[in-house]
Amino acid sequence: MARRECLLLLVLSATLFSFGASCSNGECRLLDECSSDSDCVAGLYCFSCPQGFSGSRCVRSTITDQFKLWNNSLPFNKYAFLTTHNAYAIDGEPPHTPVPRVTVTNQEDTVTQQLNNGVRGLMLDTYDFEGDVWLCHSFKGQCYDFTAFEPAIDTLKEIEAFLSANPAEIVTLILEDYVQAPNGLTKVFTDAGLMKYWFPVSNMPKNGQDWPLVSDMVANNQRLLVFTSILSKEQSEGIAYQWNYMVENQCCVHACKWRIN
Ligand SMILES: *[C@@H]1O[C@H](CO)[C@@H](O)[C@H](O)[C@H]1NC(C)=O
Repeated sequence: MARRECLLLLVLSATLFSFGASCSNGECRLLDECSSDSDCVAGLYCFSCPQGFSGSRCVRSTITDQFKLWNNSLPFNKYAFLTTHNAYAIDGEPPHTPVPRVTVTNQEDTVTQQLNNGVRGLMLDTYDFEGDVWLCHSFKGQCYDFTAFEPAIDTLKEIEAFLSANPAEIVTLILEDYVQAPNGLTKVFTDAGLMKYWFPVSNMPKNGQDWPLVSDMVANNQRLLVFTSILSKEQSEGIAYQWNYMVENQCCVHACKWRIN
């Protein structure tokens, strides 16, 4: 009897397995189950994301370049860009303080890899720390040794390198900003060599009007948009206050999960 049950289980698991592996060898399409990257068609890789879907499935490794589908002659607000939340909170980021980090990570790619894979919006949390501006995944507006990721200048220099190597690309930074040091952000953006790409707040449309054409922003080399969460910095440092220019819609894992399933 015990033996029969065992056999039954084997048959059952073989059946399940054959359902699970309905594709392989580079034939699995978007969101098909997979066991390794080579199962997926070109442009996809095998990934598990418990918050989004069950098991391992083929997902996109890079974006579709919308400027190749169309061209860049529309207003900036007519395009959509992939944006990473806590772009700096990266798995395996080496420690930059004397103590191990005790905080949550959100990304696997470095910022340079994110940009090369098509990310054009980076959400960064900026703090006063060690007499400088740092990126930290922290709480109550205070950065600690154990919540610090890295000095902001390191990440900003990666962004500068990308903008310099890709003269037709535009990058948007959305800062959850806790920097109180006067001109602290202005100094670190200047030191990173990013001011030459700065899109001036005076050219940003208010009241829902169209933005300039992407082609004009590129021609003028105004290819870095920076938004802060601190209202007063629009006056004091010329850094756009996020909610003067943006709206946010409600999107959550639940809704995404519902669409996938
Ligand atoms: C961009 O594409 C549209 C649609 O194909 C076309 O009408 C327009 O002339 C193009 N603009 C440039 C500058 O190539």
